Amino acid sequence: MQQWPHPPVTAHRRPAGEDESRRANGPDWDRYADEYQATHGEFLGDAGFVWGPEGLTEADAGILGPVEGRDVLEVGSGAGQCSRWVRERGGRAVGLDLSHRQLQHSRRIDEASGVAVPSVLGTATHLPFGDASFDVVFSSFGALQFVADIERAVAETARVLRPGGRFAFSITHPTRWMFPDDPTEEGLTATQSYWDRTPYVEVDDETGRTAYVEHHRTLGDWVRLLADAGFRITTLLEPEWPADNERLWGGWSRVRGRLTPGTAIFGSELPS
Ligand SMILES: C[S@@+](CC[C@H](N)C(=O)[O-])C[C@H]1O[C@@H](n2cnc3c(N)ncnc32)[C@H](O)[C@@H]1O
Repeated sequence: MQQWPHPPVTAHRRPAGEDESRRANGPDWDRYADEYQATHGEFLGDAGFVWGPEGLTEADAGILGPVEGRDVLEVGSGAGQCSRWVRERGGRAVGLDLSHRQLQHSRRIDEASGVAVPSVLGTATHLPFGDASFDVVFSSFGALQFVADIERAVAETARVLRPGGRFAFSITHPTRWMFPDDPTEEGLTATQSYWDRTPYVEVDDETGRTAYVEHHRTLGDWVRLLADAGFRITTLLEPEWPADNERLWGGWSRVRGRLTPGTAIFGSELPS
């Protein structure tokens, strides 16, 4: 559920499949990329790895395990900040993202920082890599809540991972879907069913085209998805909002963060 300025849209809860989601979200991220990087780039850090607006870093969370000498894929890599952090620690990180403009920002930061992240334009549901190519796949608020065919995205992740490989990702905490996407007190009253998986869809008022789609799964859905694809869940982190974090990020804020979790971070691994 987005907050940034974009063409006037009307929000719906209605079905939206994989093609519709991808065709809407790629151009949407292209439109938003400049503002996203201008607004959040400093917080993210050119070679920083944060898991979400709370500011929990991978250096503190340690979900990926050691990355030195490992082949690492970031799905929904945006401007590659997290992958750059991995590369600075000796991991061979590569990025994949649906948005051409996000990848242009990645290239800009590659050149400015001197730490280049090889990146490819693509989607989480068709990873353009061979079987068993990576030791680690991760996504920090990347593709997973934007795809409809999540079974395929998780299966693709399992396919490109080697035995014993790790998969970690952060998403909007599923309980947030009960509340209006509002960072103020107004966003603290549950108004929607936690169990309603109907996608959130924005339709451009002028063109009638789908402008943005986001998908909700419950915590139980995620457990089942990972288990069905052969993963063992190793952790589920729900970072608390730090007292000194005054950041407003869409629906994330201190007002809501001190009472309800905004981010869920799953860690999992395949059998060796
Ligand atoms: C909130 S941004 C996160 C980017 C980066 N991880 C960060 O922390 O800044 C979400 C990213 O997911 C990408 N994305 C959306 N749908 C995707 C898909 N189906 N496959 C790959 N990337 C996708 C968007 O283009 C965007 O760059």
